Amino acid sequence: MANGTPRPIAPAKGKLGVLCVGLGAVATTFIAGVELIRRGTAKPIGSLTQMGTIRLGKRTEGRSPLIKEFVPLADLKDLVFGAWDPVPDNAYQSCLHCGVLDKHEHVEPIKDFLQAITPMPAVFDQFYVKRLEGKNAKVGKNKKELAEALRKDIRDFKAKHGCDRLVIVWCASTEIFISPGPAHQTLAAFEKAMETNDPSIAPSMLYAYAAIMEGVPFANGAPNLCCDIPAIEQLAKDKGVPIGGKDFKTGQTMLKTVLSPMFKARMLGVAGWYSTNILGNRDGEILDDPESFKTKEESKLGVLEDILQPKIYPDLYGNIFHKVRINYYPPRGDNKEGWDNIDIFGWCGYPMQIKVDFLCRDSILAAPLVLDLALFFDLAQRAKLSGIQEWLSFYFKSPQVAPGLYPEHDLFIQQTKMKNTLRWLMGEASITHLGVEYYEYGEK
Ligand SMILES: NC(=O)c1ccc[n+]([C@@H]2O[C@H](COP(=O)([O-])OP(=O)(O)OC[C@H]3O[C@@H](n4cnc5c(N)ncnc54)[C@H](O)[C@@H]3O)[C@@H](O)[C@H]2O)c1
Repeated sequence: MANGTPRPIAPAKGKLGVLCVGLGAVATTFIAGVELIRRGTAKPIGSLTQMGTIRLGKRTEGRSPLIKEFVPLADLKDLVFGAWDPVPDNAYQSCLHCGVLDKHEHVEPIKDFLQAITPMPAVFDQFYVKRLEGKNAKVGKNKKELAEALRKDIRDFKAKHGCDRLVIVWCASTEIFISPGPAHQTLAAFEKAMETNDPSIAPSMLYAYAAIMEGVPFANGAPNLCCDIPAIEQLAKDKGVPIGGKDFKTGQTMLKTVLSPMFKARMLGVAGWYSTNILGNRDGEILDDPESFKTKEESKLGVLEDILQPKIYPDLYGNIFHKVRINYYPPRGDNKEGWDNIDIFGWCGYPMQIKVDFLCRDSILAAPLVLDLALFFDLAQRAKLSGIQEWLSFYFKSPQVAPGLYPEHDLFIQQTKMKNTLRWLMGEASITHLGVEYYEYGEK
């Protein structure tokens, strides 16, 4: 039973262009995976938009459609792909270089398709990503001119591929740590800073600016400050464009945002949480630079504080030692291993330990998130939702939120928030899990 007015949503007609900033491991695993799924040789495992269902109404109603049949999402057959990268390799070469997908089973069969995706010259500056050299980069007299060149790329791509709509996802390297400063506060200050080549304006901010100016939703999969600044947030609101980030929530942090709510739910204390990783892909090499690692570290560290609320529970969480390390270790490639040692304590303060050893595949975990974000940001745009899309926090390690709010990190609260937003969009009742009606009023 519907109990609200559905929000008007423009239909998902025509082609949706998905532009990835960066054509490395995550982007190529995403693009190749979508093509393999379209050809029927792979399944969209890990993608909520493709495999997830949503319960509607009471538990007795038996209504649980697939999400993609409940909300009007773009169909995979309508996606076309483009990218920017300072490394000139096409998607086929990049796939082989990254070594995530099996060459014979998953890359060679779609070689022609992948070879046709060549990266546009990037806005790139080694000052922001120290461990990367890129020759396929734009030149311009200042950052404003570079942003204008990105805007032209966006318009040209749309016209060349006959796209009805576009969405941009940052899948590029993690930049050095930048604190919000005066240039980020207003659009006027931001535009002035672009003209004067202010170092606090990083390339990722130029992509976000260009996307919004062209009316294209922008999702940030890295921990870069990027669109998490007042100037860009206001611009997105003014132009009616959805934005969001930061940092795909895939491996260790996903586990953290599942385990720590459990400790809090049971009022178990946490004395320390030591997380370390070995990773051998290019992302690992870039994060080996202390300035890029600092950006990642901030994104990973915030989670526990926000979930465990040490100010409210000082006896349980007031004195946690939390450490996160990422170690570049080439033999493992994209197959990261993440260890967590968690020191917890219970009744009368008795200590206990939990050890987690997650042998994961970084890009295999991230690729379905890129797909879901692209489809949901496009949905948000067609539903005229603008500015920060907090309902998509589910996908991010360090969710962007309105000023004055703390981010919601608990994976299952994020999931409830997202599904209730979908219900709300379609005029269905929110699910509160109260359930008293099954008992108090004798309802079936
Ligand atoms: N894989 C995961 O599980 C995961 C999780 C969270 C966040 N991330 C983030 O996603 C991003 C991509 O990860 P990856 O494993 O694909 O890394 P990668 O190094 O394989 O690919 C990144 C690509 O971005 C390109 N690049 C760098 N600066 C650029 C710029 N200014 N413009 C355009 N392209 C640029 C690089 O040349 C490279 O090809 C990283 O920032 C990573 O931290 C990944």
